[in-house]
Amino acid sequence: MDNSKIKRYTVTAALPYTNGPVHIGHLAGVYIPADIYARYLRSNKRDVKFICGSDENGVPITLKAKREGITPQEVVDKYHKIIGDSFKEFGVSFDIYHRTSSQTHHQTASDFFKKLYDKGVFTEEITEQYYDPTAKQFLADRYITGTCPKCGNENAYGDQCENCGSTLNATDLINPKSTLSGDKPILKETKNWFLPLDQYEERLRTYIESHKEWRPNVYGQCQSWLNAGLQPRAMTRDLDWGVRVPLRDAEGKVLYVWFDAPIGYISATKELCNYAKLDVWNPKAEEYYINNYESDKCGWEEYWKSDETKLVHFIGKDNIVFHCIIFPAMLMAHGEYTLADNVPANEFLNLEGQKISTSKNWAVWLNEYLREFEGKQDVLRYVLTATAPETKDNDFTWKDFQARNNNELVAILGNFVNRVVVLTHKYFNGVIPTCMEITAVDQAVIDELADYPGKIAASIENYRFREALAEVMNVARLGNKYLAETEPWKLIKTDEDRVRTILHLSLQIAANVQILIEPFLPFTAEKLMKMLQNGGHDWDDAGSVSLLKRGHQIGEGVLLFEKIEDAEIDFQIEKLNQSKASNAAGSVVATPAKENINFDDFSAMDIRVATIVAAEKVEKTKKLLKLTVNTGIDERTVVSGIAEYYKPEDIVGKQVSMIVNLAPREIKGILSQGMILMAENSEGKLTFVAPVEKFQEGSIIK
Ligand code: MF3
Ligand code: ZN
Repeated sequence: MDNSKIKRYTVTAALPYTNGPVHIGHLAGVYIPADIYARYLRSNKRDVKFICGSDENGVPITLKAKREGITPQEVVDKYHKIIGDSFKEFGVSFDIYHRTSSQTHHQTASDFFKKLYDKGVFTEEITEQYYDPTAKQFLADRYITGTCPKCGNENAYGDQCENCGSTLNATDLINPKSTLSGDKPILKETKNWFLPLDQYEERLRTYIESHKEWRPNVYGQCQSWLNAGLQPRAMTRDLDWGVRVPLRDAEGKVLYVWFDAPIGYISATKELCNYAKLDVWNPKAEEYYINNYESDKCGWEEYWKSDETKLVHFIGKDNIVFHCIIFPAMLMAHGEYTLADNVPANEFLNLEGQKISTSKNWAVWLNEYLREFEGKQDVLRYVLTATAPETKDNDFTWKDFQARNNNELVAILGNFVNRVVVLTHKYFNGVIPTCMEITAVDQAVIDELADYPGKIAASIENYRFREALAEVMNVARLGNKYLAETEPWKLIKTDEDRVRTILHLSLQIAANVQILIEPFLPFTAEKLMKMLQNGGHDWDDAGSVSLLKRGHQIGEGVLLFEKIEDAEIDFQIEKLNQSKASNAAGSVVATPAKENINFDDFSAMDIRVATIVAAEKVEKTKKLLKLTVNTGIDERTVVSGIAEYYKPEDIVGKQVSMIVNLAPREIKGILSQGMILMAENSEGKLTFVAPVEKFQEGSIIK
């Protein structure tokens, strides 16, 4: 984009899925680079809106809710807060962190869909989808399990087999089962609305090919999608969690999460611009909303519909197709929006040589890091930027983290600033000395310094943040070299005027570091500002040696960084080794605890010791046994799904724990009166929960 045309910037960072906390991979891949860019733009006094929020729709969230026994809204409320707090604590300076469960978002996404519908953009297609007649709902792919046709794994999902890694269609599964009821789903016809991506192929190609400057990984991925030929893609789903499809014949359908999520950037911008409030206080709200929804009374449209706005999406590489193909096609179909000028997607960050994995707990969680390395946000920001996976996957190791802290932050940046501040206090009572005569050595330093801001800016504007940060460190190196060459601590006895000049210039270098480091390490910049008492400067001022005025009193010296000891690093490595050991032992991380209940809820359950007196298989089932149990109160029948783990003849006489006041239920024509308690491990194996010694039937368990 022609720089002279740019009036404002809309910078977005991928909306994280709200079904778990965020880890270093997220930070390195998306949020730190986006934050560096946004902070840099602000330091340049450019008009920028830095947008993010929680992606709260989609199937993974409903699955998580099911597993934890809470509602999807409770899941997203919990993680929206955790994620939002982590970002805030790491200094990620969003102008808004919004959420896609908000009213503004539902309205915006719904209207966007309706506009495309009214323009006749969508094609309607009737397809056959799996349906669970017991649960009375269509099943998303993840709600179906069955046997993988490729490798025979019995627990493959409807979209993927985690054993052999194949991508599947739900209809490929042998013996499909609904995870809702356990029953076999049936195929049922359903209508959905498709975005005919094929019709946008040429326009998309023109768009992508006008951006040869994009990172090769991004450009290449787009090319290969286009070359493979685009297919129509369903923009609605049969699901009950998400943005309702705003059409009459769309009961029980919501927008596809990848349709609504990127619109989340737009709704967040509206919210930021007080669109919602405007709507509330506007006396003509009703009319305004319906007839003039797109009118721009709050200014949000400037950030989305002007060709003087530069739109940049920061994402991870798994999001490329959605941001470079599908979302642009949606915006083209709508007709009023401008397209992204760049999509600087990062590759993945590995951890100690292995892929980061939430389910294997192979990750460094931000909330844990903050607890264990209190106040060291900038150390992580530094390391993640210095090793950012900009062009290829990269590895985070704790040893490297330690080395970069000790050898770079402490030894170069911290050491330089510390020496300058200490010497200024020692020789001049903390008052900035006057610059006397400039020598050739000084002039060389002044000239070199002047070149840095432009160089660093060019790297940032080209999304080369690692390179930019390395150059900022070179400014601190320049300072160290200058001190080492001039040795003011030796000259102080013989040539005080020379020392005045050296410290004057060194302080100016430190003040430059403060400005240049701010986008990368904002907490450090803040400390520097207090130490140097140097506020009110921005990027334009950098490169100069008259940032600090002589006679100006600087503040107390504080250490910017401290050494990280081996013990702290060993502790982290040990923690990871424990994850590895428990993964190897087959035990995955325990399912998180359910919400608290009160004591009354618990004591409402009547649990007793009982003895199995008879057992037989239930005809035509694989899992069920019909048990006769002596509860001490009575003898009764219970149907229990334990046939895969126990033979009838082995369990007669066994003692068990049993809920005796569970409402009776008919299972396969047998009235089951109660439930036997079982422990289930992560592989689904069941075992009885029994008193450790023989106990009288009817004994109360409490
Ligand atoms: N939630 C997605 C992910 O974590 C990213 C959504 S980006 C958006 O991969 F544009 F759709 F919001
Ligand atoms: Zn398989």
